[in-house]
Amino acid sequence: MRVTAAVLHSPGEPFALRDVELHGPRPDEVLVRVTSVGICATDLEFATFFGTPAVLGHEGAGVVEEVGERVTSVSPGDHVAMTFHSCGRCRQCLTGAPAYCAHFDAVNFSGRRPDGSSAVSLDGTEINAHFLGQSSFADHVVAPARAVVPIGKDVDLTVAGPFGCGFQTGAGAVLNVLRPGPGSSLAVFGAGAVGAASVAAAVLSGCSVVAAVDLNPARLDTATALGATHAVPAGDGAADALRSIAPDGFDFAIDTTGRADVLRTAVESLAPLGRCGVVGVGPSPEMSFDWRSVLNGRTVTGVIAGGSMPQVFLPKLLDLHAAGRFPVDRLVTRFPFDRFDEAVDAARHGTVGKAVLTF
Ligand SMILES: NC(=O)c1ccc[n+]([C@@H]2O[C@H](COP(=O)([O-])OP(=O)(O)OC[C@H]3O[C@@H](n4cnc5c(N)ncnc54)[C@H](O)[C@@H]3O)[C@@H](O)[C@H]2O)c1
Ligand SMILES: [Zn+2]
Ligand SMILES: [Zn+2]
Repeated sequence: MRVTAAVLHSPGEPFALRDVELHGPRPDEVLVRVTSVGICATDLEFATFFGTPAVLGHEGAGVVEEVGERVTSVSPGDHVAMTFHSCGRCRQCLTGAPAYCAHFDAVNFSGRRPDGSSAVSLDGTEINAHFLGQSSFADHVVAPARAVVPIGKDVDLTVAGPFGCGFQTGAGAVLNVLRPGPGSSLAVFGAGAVGAASVAAAVLSGCSVVAAVDLNPARLDTATALGATHAVPAGDGAADALRSIAPDGFDFAIDTTGRADVLRTAVESLAPLGRCGVVGVGPSPEMSFDWRSVLNGRTVTGVIAGGSMPQVFLPKLLDLHAAGRFPVDRLVTRFPFDRFDEAVDAARHGTVGKAVLTF
């Protein structure tokens, strides 16, 4: 079928809205009419080096139109959010940790299905797609059933999409991985969509000190509105400010900036035995810290997709959202799909909390 997609023709170039051909679904795939898709920082980072031409986008939500003959988890008409893919057969997948799938990169970032084919072609030639189980910068996608999570029909689809990546990533780092108990202290470095979701989850966990650190004053305001107890401007004074907030150090920290200097500050802001989650995928190819800064029992752990089992975690998180306990809808600003460039600019410059394209 003919569908409209935002095609990246070469790395670093603007996306172009084009008609493409979508093939499928195959027996284990689902055809979804995408009603909305969030823009995540990861889309913008991959757009600088991904093999082109390509369709990116990985926070899609919509309505199932057709299912392959082996699909039993969803049916036509179901509302769904899409999320990352995983092989389902490796040790991590079989023990409930698909975010750490041994084949994560191959199934999410190769641009192709495992057999080398693509569901999307442009002018008769297959192009890279299947990005994080979907490539949902398009009004229809073909997604593997494992990457499709059924959600209630009462859920606002324009808010549900980012639950598939940004919101589940930030919340899961707190609720699934660091698991702070009531009364804990947690510092979140970078208060974009991911960091803001971590702030909301820290509040939900009963943390008594939740410090948000960012360069962007508007993002600090949003973090405060979500319940952060302290807003710390990033920069030279941040480490001292954090020390005065938690003189014995923080129990937990999360880096969402992907910057080596920020990670160092995050690790050094911890109390002995404190834990730091590394979430940001950023400009620093290497991250380092003095060995003495971790000898006192501090732990640094990478976190992918909030360590989530999406079919279990997303519905729980959406229920918390519906109950007003995870109010990330306030981050969302909607843009019609034909204002794609404007939405990308807003996401890139942090003028909105989470840009969501609507069809
Ligand atoms: N690990 C995962 O599974 C996963 C999943 C989703 C996103 N990510 C990554 O998480 C990161 C955050 O995603 P996002 O969508 O929230 O991005 P974003 O760009 O909206 O947020 C990043 C925030 O960091 C702030 N920042 C930049 N430099 C800073 C500094 N020196 N000190 C403090 N704050 C600083 C920015 O102002 C911005 O608000 C990205 O790197 C993204 O690629 C990782
Ligand atoms: Zn696997
Ligand atoms: Zn993402």
